[in-house]
Amino acid sequence: RAATSAPENPPATLAEIARHLAHCRRCPLAETATCAVAGEGPLSARIMIVGEQPGDREDLTGRPFIGPAGQLLDRALTTAGIPRSEIYLTHAVKHFKWTPRGKTRLHQTPNTAEIEACRPWLLAELSALTPQIVILLGATAAHSLIGPGVRVMRDRGLVSLPSLAPHVILTVHPASLLRQPSDRLSADAFNDFVADLRLALTS
Ligand code: URA
Repeated sequence: RAATSAPENPPATLAEIARHLAHCRRCPLAETATCAVAGEGPLSARIMIVGEQPGDREDLTGRPFIGPAGQLLDRALTTAGIPRSEIYLTHAVKHFKWTPRGKTRLHQTPNTAEIEACRPWLLAELSALTPQIVILLGATAAHSLIGPGVRVMRDRGLVSLPSLAPHVILTVHPASLLRQPSDRLSADAFNDFVADLRLALTS
């Protein structure tokens, strides 16, 4: 049987997860998104990166982290010396949440109900992959896998969460770096982000 996959009976392989996810109606976001964006990366990945949700470009193409935030993540990974091809990239929420603003679609932060509705997919991915290191990008990923009380700027760095993975790193979301008030990426903020990613090399 298909589709909305009960949390107590999750699909077991990444391919099955992606197939079932395509039909997910666990929350209303599927109605306004183009598609569910499944995770991407090799089954052998030691590192799993969890973002917030697909953005406009990801929603249109079905691929994670290919828009502006994804390009900044690529640059940070390259600077840190971590090949993207060895990482499994996914999101806490699999459908793009947006509101119209003129001709563009403005990103909206997922709410608690949406994060919770999507969590079984993320947990299924974790079980299928059993990564050595999980990197949580931003508050939504942290909320999903650590809890609502986490504060990214206060708690960033290595966090102890052995039920999730041997090593868990919490850091900012690259989209937050793009939204810096100076309208240009602060070198300090970028370097701090890279330093957090580099924790994966020594973990
Ligand atoms: N934000 C994310 O978390 N992921 C993307 O792919 C794009 C924006």
